[in-house]
Amino acid sequence: MTEITISASRTYSVRIGTNLLEQCGEAVRSISEKAQKAAIITDDIVHELYGRRVEESLRRVGFQTFSFVFPHGEEQKNLDTYAAAQNFLAEHRVSRGDIIIALGGGVSGDLAGFTAATYMRGIPYVQIPTTVLAAVDSSVGGKTAVNLNRGKNLCGCFYQPELVLCDCSTFSTLPPEVFRDGCAEVIKYGVLGGGEFFAGLEQTPAEEQIEGMVAHCVSMKGDLVCKDEFDRGYRQLLNLGHTVGHAIEVCSDFQISHGKAVAAGMAIMARSARKQGICDPEVPERIAALLKKYSLPCETAFSAEELYQAACADKKITGGTVCIVVPEAIGKCVLKTIKTEELFDWISMGLCV
Ligand code: NAD
Ligand code: GLY
Repeated sequence: MTEITISASRTYSVRIGTNLLEQCGEAVRSISEKAQKAAIITDDIVHELYGRRVEESLRRVGFQTFSFVFPHGEEQKNLDTYAAAQNFLAEHRVSRGDIIIALGGGVSGDLAGFTAATYMRGIPYVQIPTTVLAAVDSSVGGKTAVNLNRGKNLCGCFYQPELVLCDCSTFSTLPPEVFRDGCAEVIKYGVLGGGEFFAGLEQTPAEEQIEGMVAHCVSMKGDLVCKDEFDRGYRQLLNLGHTVGHAIEVCSDFQISHGKAVAAGMAIMARSARKQGICDPEVPERIAALLKKYSLPCETAFSAEELYQAACADKKITGGTVCIVVPEAIGKCVLKTIKTEELFDWISMGLCV
């Protein structure tokens, strides 16, 4: 097992290993000595696969458990599901001294995190990610949110978990598509950090290096979160591919997954940077080759106008400017603040291969 410490407004451990679900009760008890109730927030697919294992482990150490189970899918990460989760906690008389368990992918994690942040003005929670995406990104760093009709993650807050337990054996049940979605975020860390990690992704399939790969990404994310918990500077590097990616998700009415949208977003930004002479042709070529290796898209069918309009609703746009992440080289990405209208040119230059 690997243990990484995240030092943000709260200091907590991320434990990465196998068979951690069976032992989650002891781990949760160690950070929550007095809690009586553990409320698990999860979707129907994850509940069916792993709910009982988590409930039994929690009960063995004396927790009363309750599971709020919602239908899977990004479209469920909304205010209605959030309100239902809040009411569920109140009906089961969950108190501030109890604990919430976010079990599942990024949708469960973001929804459960925001529920925990706001129920009774905040109760402790533990993240148990079960997708690669949640393991390498969403379970760490305390960004919690639900979507509004006008865009992704528009209603949320920063709220750090007490503990993250990443059981890599849960990835064995992931549909290949969902596994690949997570690889898009892993490739993002590769582009940001470069070096042996990027080369390792080119040479060795993710499945064969999963635990080390998750640990590397979490450690990179931890460094950025420690420097800039509230996303005012360095942390925004993690948004590589996300401005266009979020626009693709919105344009597709969330039918295109986050991972695939971010993959296309990264490829578009890299091509645009190359066309503007900011990076060498090698940069978009290596990114596209790696994305293709993991069966991830490098293009989108949406027009520059459609993507631009969707991007304009993004929360990253403030006061007529937007901060974009520009790849100058593999291992060197920079933040660039541009006028919102310049984003149209960035997108349209990146759309043409
Ligand atoms: P997800 O949570 O919807 O999971 C994808 C699918 O996999 C779902 O159908 C789920 O039921 C299923 N699933 C989960 N674990 C499984 C398992 N072990 N075996 C079989 N099926 C399993 O999606 P995701 O890709 O994990 O997360 C995407 C979300 O994460 C988006 O909403 C995105 O905005 C958010 N996100 C948040 C952050 C953050 O910092 N908070 C970062 C990146 C992404
Ligand atoms: N997923 C981007 C971040 O956590 O900042």
